[in-house]
Amino acid sequence: MSQVIDSLATYSLLGRSGLRVSPLCLGTMTFGTEWGWGAPKETAFALLDRFFEAGGNFVDTADGYTGGTSESFIGEWMAERKARDRAVVATKFTFAAAPGDPNSGGNGRKNVHRALESSLRRLRTDYVDLYWLHAWDGVTPVEEVVSTLGDLVRAGKIRHWGLSDVPAWYFARAQSLADMRGVDRAVALQLEYSLVERNIEREHVPAALELGAGLCPWSPLASGLLSGKYTREGVKAKGDGRLQALQASANPAFTKLFTERNWAIVDKLVDVAKRLDRRPAEVALAWVARRPGVTSTILGATKLPQLEENLRALEAPLPADAAAELDAVGQPELVHPYLFFQPAMRGMITGGTKVLAEPAWFRG
Ligand SMILES: NC(=O)c1ccc[n+]([C@@H]2O[C@H](COP(=O)([O-])OP(=O)(O)OC[C@H]3O[C@@H](n4cnc5c(N)ncnc54)[C@H](OP(=O)(O)O)[C@@H]3O)[C@@H](O)[C@H]2O)c1
Repeated sequence: MSQVIDSLATYSLLGRSGLRVSPLCLGTMTFGTEWGWGAPKETAFALLDRFFEAGGNFVDTADGYTGGTSESFIGEWMAERKARDRAVVATKFTFAAAPGDPNSGGNGRKNVHRALESSLRRLRTDYVDLYWLHAWDGVTPVEEVVSTLGDLVRAGKIRHWGLSDVPAWYFARAQSLADMRGVDRAVALQLEYSLVERNIEREHVPAALELGAGLCPWSPLASGLLSGKYTREGVKAKGDGRLQALQASANPAFTKLFTERNWAIVDKLVDVAKRLDRRPAEVALAWVARRPGVTSTILGATKLPQLEENLRALEAPLPADAAAELDAVGQPELVHPYLFFQPAMRGMITGGTKVLAEPAWFRG
């Protein structure tokens, strides 16, 4: 990004919208103790107080987080602090609310309306600023999703909408349909992005830049792995925190973290942080927050000192050589057709000429 981000109160427009958001967004999946690795209400309120006091205004939740407790805490906090106007509240729909009922989840119109009404009740508000489709359900026609969300914007129940955990082609199709139908487009994409998870650089980052959506990375510390607080036992992590629960899981979305490759990235991160006299979490967040296309990075914390440490990520940009070392260590594997976009092939296309209009994210 060309602009200088040096504090939480340096706001950016989210995608092609007029919504001003802070460069870090407070993730609240850790609000509530239901999942075994979250924070109680008192801590959640302290985290919200500190985040807003430092200039933050953007809060991310979902109807499914901690069985609705996350949204309820935010609603109660906003009511107590009279903070509804200042807060940019983002929540999500998709995950099933009632096992056995196929329309209690997914991205069809019936569930979207049900989910939104429940979220508004828990959040104690009559609108959300940004409504996320939480994940592609693989079946609902994209036409229905775009028209449902467009209608909700027109009805004033949501101000903007965005897509989380979707294929890049799905996002591109949604933007095209919105244009064709004169409906408001998605203003943001929410995807996992960190030093250890960089697969979105192939398709989603260029798509977001081309199609006017702000990227909001989730799990920027890889659930705490990039805080540097864990030691290793084989490829498993040793130390207190969420990773203990994740590595006991059979879900590959969680166990994918524990690899030799990722420990090599942690080693490099810890080494770079030591040289810069900064904490690994600060460095890992500083790296994500300034990647091309990123507008607001969704961080997580279960304790106030963690938040304090993470907020320091914005104090100074990474020196170019440190950023280059970190860029190199987790570079996504070059596979077809992306190999065709490398300098060796570019020469055959350009005839050796320089084409200034090439997008900045184009490799080489
Ligand atoms: N759209 C999606 O599918 C999706 C998926 C996941 C998350 N999200 C969003 O993204 C947000 C952030 O995700 P995340 O919580 O996974 O983010 P993360 O930054 O990768 O992990 C945060 C966790 O790491 C540990 N931690 C954070 N800062 C630390 C520090 N300075 N020192 C030591 N440990 C530290 C804490 O856990 P412990 O104290 O337990 O170690 C904290 O809860 C969520 O709250 C949610 O809003 C979205």
